[in-house]
Amino acid sequence: MRFLKKALVASAFAVTAIVMSASAYAADVKIGFVVKQPEEPWFQDEWKFADQAAKEKGFTLVKIGAEDGEKLMSAIDNLGAQGVQGFVVCTPDVKLGPGIVAKAAANNLKLMTVDDRLVGADGKPLEDVPHMGISATKIGEAVGQAIVDEMKARGWNADEVGAIRVSYDQLPTAVDRVEGAISVLKKNGFKASNIFDAPQAKTDTEAALNAATVVLNAHPNIKKWVAFGLNDEAALGAVRASESVGIPATNMIGVGIGGADSAINEFKKPQPTGFVGSVIISPKRHGYETSLNMYGWIADNKEPEKLILTSGSLAKRDDYQKVRKDLGLE
Ligand code: GLA
Repeated sequence: MRFLKKALVASAFAVTAIVMSASAYAADVKIGFVVKQPEEPWFQDEWKFADQAAKEKGFTLVKIGAEDGEKLMSAIDNLGAQGVQGFVVCTPDVKLGPGIVAKAAANNLKLMTVDDRLVGADGKPLEDVPHMGISATKIGEAVGQAIVDEMKARGWNADEVGAIRVSYDQLPTAVDRVEGAISVLKKNGFKASNIFDAPQAKTDTEAALNAATVVLNAHPNIKKWVAFGLNDEAALGAVRASESVGIPATNMIGVGIGGADSAINEFKKPQPTGFVGSVIISPKRHGYETSLNMYGWIADNKEPEKLILTSGSLAKRDDYQKVRKDLGLE
């Protein structure tokens, strides 16, 4: 009898000890989430969903904005010094790839990228680093299709329309997105000579506005325009540029990618602007799921898949609420 009691007590202790060590371990997990443009609504949303994962699993999330390479390198050291075990990053410059990998290793940090995939000296993706990004070409095609559909609805003839390709060609996903859009425009009768490159210095609205203004001023004879780029900010910048040179909303069709506040606020305006639609992508998957992936890697030694590609859905002024709801974003 005594023996049995002892054994029972001992096993009860063992169970408590296991439970305690598991929860103590969750509390010990610290994950970094570093983004290139912390003020952009897309990245705010990624952080919001990463916070949700942290709350659910009980790990600590360390959020850092790193707008350039120098800030990113010191952010990684900072994470190491804080006892973080791994981090998710959207880098300000994909060409820093090998440097980021080395810096992470030196700090003993697991590394996963989101949105922008690291490249090596040869320009090829670093396939060993787990990555979650959007299906860039497909989503670009959806942008092109939305533009073509709107042109048809307005009865436009492709020959009299100019296209602004707001570009950021140092970023492969940006190239894939705009080239996806262009392939659909061309299939629908757009001449290559009517498509104008507007290189932006940064990936925000102001830089896109400046780049698009140059194109519009160079072609005052063209009265109808379409515009697209890497994200909502690119398309919005082009729309703001068209407004500033006096092109009416009825002569402008801009379609973005993202679907965060930048786009939604535009849809909420009382009068429609030239910003016609946005292909909504999922900040929930990019923020919540990458954080969970990193958590699983640290806590359970389960390495994330090397490449995860996410999809998008077109939303316009009249249906964005429904599309957001269907995507679990409301
Ligand atoms: C890039 C862009 C962001 C957003 C993400 C989505 O990082 O700069 O605006 O579109 O891709 O993956």
